[in-house]
Amino acid sequence: MEIILHIPHIISLDFELIKPYFENKSITDLNLMKINEEGFSHYALGKYNNKVVGVRFGRPAMNYKREASGLSRLSHKSIPVCIDTGELVMPNCKLGYMVIQHFLGTPISENLDFESKNGRKNIISVLSEIVNILDYIHSKDVVHNDIHKDHILINNNGVYLIDFSRWFDPKKDRIPTTYDFCDEHEYANTCYGRLLKTILKSQPSYLFVDGLKNLANSLIAKPRDFFYGPNSKSRNELSQDIKSALEEIALSI
Ligand SMILES: Nc1ncnc2c1ncn2[C@@H]1O[C@H](COP(=O)(O)OP(=O)(O)OP(=O)(O)O)[C@@H](O)[C@H]1O
Ligand SMILES: [Mg+2]
Repeated sequence: MEIILHIPHIISLDFELIKPYFENKSITDLNLMKINEEGFSHYALGKYNNKVVGVRFGRPAMNYKREASGLSRLSHKSIPVCIDTGELVMPNCKLGYMVIQHFLGTPISENLDFESKNGRKNIISVLSEIVNILDYIHSKDVVHNDIHKDHILINNNGVYLIDFSRWFDPKKDRIPTTYDFCDEHEYANTCYGRLLKTILKSQPSYLFVDGLKNLANSLIAKPRDFFYGPNSKSRNELSQDIKSALEEIALSI
């Protein structure tokens, strides 16, 4: 019988047993980094062709293949390169995996500094960079579809977007009904607005935070109105509008 391993305690107990199967695929020196209790992919660091890489595993191999096809459209310093995907065939189960470029960083909500002026300036540049990244992936007909704080990592050098497991192509795929990404303009705006809201959730109200909250609300509640008519503007102009709104908020720093 085939079962897919995704039960966290089984993974942690059995990781030593799984390692040799990875070694057969030339992935060595594995260290389990993150057991994903709610999601599907566990995360380990390892070596592949003598380079340190991330190894996601737990989903069926075909899911990683699909994700890899989305990632292969993208070439951007903030988006991980998929190095390989495959399947470990073990006596009682099959385990899909993806070898991926590892980014050193922490989830966005954990290290934003709202207290200092420089910190707030940095927040505006991080948020603008996220607009640039979304703009880029949308220009390649890739909608991430799972933008949230754990999927945006930051460090001193930049901002990184990970986990494209739910991506879709708005021109080819059926648009997921659980999300209100109805057209190009809405998905860009609503996902960005939601992300802003989760980042701001526990922040006390003051001018800078309120400005960002208002921006988030208008992006979510009235994605069309915000841009005075979705058909009249290009994607580029829409991103520019969000960035201008951010710059205006920056005046309250
Ligand atoms: N390229 C990467 N660089 C650094 N860390 C990563 C990378 N990819 C994944 N991770 C880490 O592993 C965790 C789980 O990976 P990921 O989010 O891709 O799994 P998932 O199966 O899609 O989980 P979920 O279903 O909850 O989204 C991430 O939250 C992150 O901490
Ligand atoms: Mg995830």
